[in-house]
Amino acid sequence: MGALDGRVAIITGAGRGIGREHALLFASEGAKVVVNDLGGDIDGTGEDRAPAQLVVDEIREMGGEAVANVDSVADWEGAQRLVNTAIETFGDLHVLVNNAGILRDRVLVNMTEAEWDAVMAVHLKGHFCPTRFAAAYWREQVKAGKEVKAAIVNTSSGAGLLGNFGQTNYGAAKAGIAAFTIICAMELARYGVRANAIAPLARTRLTLQTPGMDQVVAEPEDASRFDVWNPANVSPLVAYLSTEGCPFNGGVFHVAGTEVGLFQGWTLGDVVRSDDRWTVGALQAEAPKLLEGRPEVASAGTLLDQFTTEFLTRQGALPG
Ligand SMILES: NC(=O)c1ccc[n+]([C@@H]2O[C@H](COP(=O)([O-])OP(=O)(O)OC[C@H]3O[C@@H](n4cnc5c(N)ncnc54)[C@H](O)[C@@H]3O)[C@@H](O)[C@H]2O)c1
Repeated sequence: MGALDGRVAIITGAGRGIGREHALLFASEGAKVVVNDLGGDIDGTGEDRAPAQLVVDEIREMGGEAVANVDSVADWEGAQRLVNTAIETFGDLHVLVNNAGILRDRVLVNMTEAEWDAVMAVHLKGHFCPTRFAAAYWREQVKAGKEVKAAIVNTSSGAGLLGNFGQTNYGAAKAGIAAFTIICAMELARYGVRANAIAPLARTRLTLQTPGMDQVVAEPEDASRFDVWNPANVSPLVAYLSTEGCPFNGGVFHVAGTEVGLFQGWTLGDVVRSDDRWTVGALQAEAPKLLEGRPEVASAGTLLDQFTTEFLTRQGALPG
């Protein structure tokens, strides 16, 4: 018995990296999987049907059920076709894992409009489009009197939740995905749909490009040592969040190595108050109190670097 027996799942960007691991684990847990991947380069250019088809072949070889889809998640009609592929091939849809992603890192002052737009399209619109059509399908099911127990798992990033140098486009999209998830969780609960997001850390072609991560993603020299950066470490949480009875809704999870945790999101910190409307002069006197004991957010060392170093220290995996 698998934890996902009878579930039909779409996994976007499942031809490589973390998404491929999701697809293999979902199939081994009994899910029928739509393996979506347009097979592009890291920056989103190019197309290749092979990565999605190879994962489908792997799943079939191990006795599982899978079908490939090579539409772009950022394409409105493509996203409709993707959702229809699940329903037409496997008769239903229970899980949508939005995972596809690209990078176009550049410091803000040099970033081009195309670099901004491409990253927003694949990540932010690429989460919206498939979710929109999946949610419409689930609402129809409810209206037709069926009980829906569906799950959406989105892919955010520490780069968005904490900030990372050189990634205004990617970080803004990933923070947007966290907000998108929380609002999906609010809107879709009435249809029996839960929405959560993960912020993973793993060795893929993307992290080899990410500032600060490229130094620490190597495989352990001793093969018997636990591989903290293996992308397969991320997938069990995603499968768990996709199970029928999972209680989580609206969570944003840290997942990497042997760790799973919940981010606490934006919380209101210290507050200064005045007796009446603030004046600029009064704020000049009082507002700096809000800075007391706070880390210097604007410093050049990025918060994601710091987070990653702390994670590695907990895992006992800092190199040398
Ligand atoms: N690797 C990490 O440590 C890390 C950290 C935080 C977030 N993430 C996120 O995890 C997700 C997976 O990334 P990865 O590290 O496995 O990278 P990856 O490059 O190995 O995999 C991403 C896949 O998405 C596909 N893709 C890109 N654009 C697409 C589109 N428009 N439509 C369909 N498929 C498309 C690519 O072809 C690729 O196979 C991404 O959203 C990434 O931002 C990764």
